[in-house]
Amino acid sequence: MKTLTITRPDDWHLHVRNGAVLKTVMPHTARQFARAIIMPNLKPPVTTVAQALIYREEILAAVPADLDFTPLMTLYLTGSTTTAEIKKAAECEHIHAFKLYPAGATTNSDSGVADIKAIYPLLAAMERHDLPLLIHGEVTDDACDIFDRERVFIDTYLSDITRNFPGLRIVVEHVTTTEAVQFVLASTPNIAATITPQHLLFNRNAILAGGIKPHYYCLPIIKRESHRLALVEAATSGNPKFFLGTDSAPHLTSLKENACGCAGCYSAHAALELYAEAFERADALNKLEAFASFYGADFYRLPRNSGTVTLEKTAWKVPAVYGKNDLSITPLKANEELPWKLQ
Ligand code: DOR
Ligand code: ZN
Repeated sequence: MKTLTITRPDDWHLHVRNGAVLKTVMPHTARQFARAIIMPNLKPPVTTVAQALIYREEILAAVPADLDFTPLMTLYLTGSTTTAEIKKAAECEHIHAFKLYPAGATTNSDSGVADIKAIYPLLAAMERHDLPLLIHGEVTDDACDIFDRERVFIDTYLSDITRNFPGLRIVVEHVTTTEAVQFVLASTPNIAATITPQHLLFNRNAILAGGIKPHYYCLPIIKRESHRLALVEAATSGNPKFFLGTDSAPHLTSLKENACGCAGCYSAHAALELYAEAFERADALNKLEAFASFYGADFYRLPRNSGTVTLEKTAWKVPAVYGKNDLSITPLKANEELPWKLQ
């Protein structure tokens, strides 16, 4: 049987929520990944070091006892974040970044940043303390077409941020367009990007052709085929600026299959398998290890993991749902066969 063994990977962009959902999803991530960057967009958001440390304990309590997993915490940037909190975060070994959500851009982003220029003093503090900034790069302007929001964000805000804070380490999260790939490629080495499995595997037809499919709806929304091809090329290029970040974002099935469905694809149940499928299709399985296990750790200045995971070329069928009854979560590729299986 064909197998692929790689250094144990990390997920550099993950939503695990809290409460019952956390208990359902945490084992899926911990069986594959040694560490994950945990997104802070809870209700209410995780804005302080003290809140992040409490959330971290809740996450650790949901990790099965036989698995070893380290949550890497982040703080949610708001217009009221203080430079004192940034200093405190930089001094805390468990906090690894701040996350910038433009207010209203996505799930639980209402407390995000409404005026990006107004938080420049905070970005200066992050640059000074060498604390990475993770960006959801979409404009929130109602007049801007949803498929253009990432590209317009780059021109309107990101270029200016990178010009003003040349030493700030930035991850342009979940890039979805040719323009974002080109921007990252043209930037200095401190500007990197994560890429999700859904943006490597699907184009926007997956959401809209042959009926509306809410489980493929996430933000930034999946774009047309030419953009997918640019993302595959970036992910499989061996360029250390691009690394794995699933953006696995669980929502209850009832809130996805809804007249106003939530944004987010749940992919943690099979994250590495989904990436393996995308890399194999591009004939680039030999590039998966560095993308999944090396480049993110290097960017965050953390040691690479020891230990390995092995994937087998064995087809298996993804369940229809995870979790029980009214707390069920529909995974990406529910009821479909995947070619790779984690041992
Ligand atoms: O689709 C998304 N879902 N995009 C995000 O940026 C947030 C995430 C969530 O938290 O559900
Ligand atoms: Zn996210």
